[in-house]
Amino acid sequence: MNALLLKESFEMVAPQKEIFARQFYDRLFTTFPQTRALFARTDMRRQESSLMATLAAVVAGVERGENLEPVLRKLGERHYSYGVQPEHYPLVGQALLATFADFLGPRFTPAMQDAWAQAFEVISAQMIAAGEP
Ligand code: HEM
Repeated sequence: MNALLLKESFEMVAPQKEIFARQFYDRLFTTFPQTRALFARTDMRRQESSLMATLAAVVAGVERGENLEPVLRKLGERHYSYGVQPEHYPLVGQALLATFADFLGPRFTPAMQDAWAQAFEVISAQMIAAGEP
């Protein structure tokens, strides 16, 4: 994973992280309405901050060269219990990248897009594997 590009792009959205997170979920629910039901009983304000906290932790972990596998395995197991299916992951990845592009415009460079696409791929593969019975 390209820690520097993840960090640079994340730091550009971090000062407005509440707005970023809200736009991300708005986009997810508008573009992929099938994801909405999963969050039927969710406190979305809390969810928005936990998404951003987790993204920050993953970026910091990648930067420090930490082994994120145990954390992602537990996160993946919890997602399985929330009813999240493997096919939901690319939808979230797509909405996340689109939110970055929308938010940052040309400051979100193609190399940053690649870095997030790759990071999301690795993260979701580990989460999905953890949820497989
Ligand atoms: C990179 C991938 C993802 C990350 C980092 C992530 C992060 C999180 C975090 C930190 C929470 C808070 C609760 C917990 O820690 O267990 C959470 C909850 C949740 N996530 Fe995700 N998530 C990801 C992918 C997805 C996907 C693909 C879906 C399905 C559309 C999804 C749906 C949910 C739902 C339904 C909850 C439970 C909300 C509740 O407590 O009611 N997540 N996620």
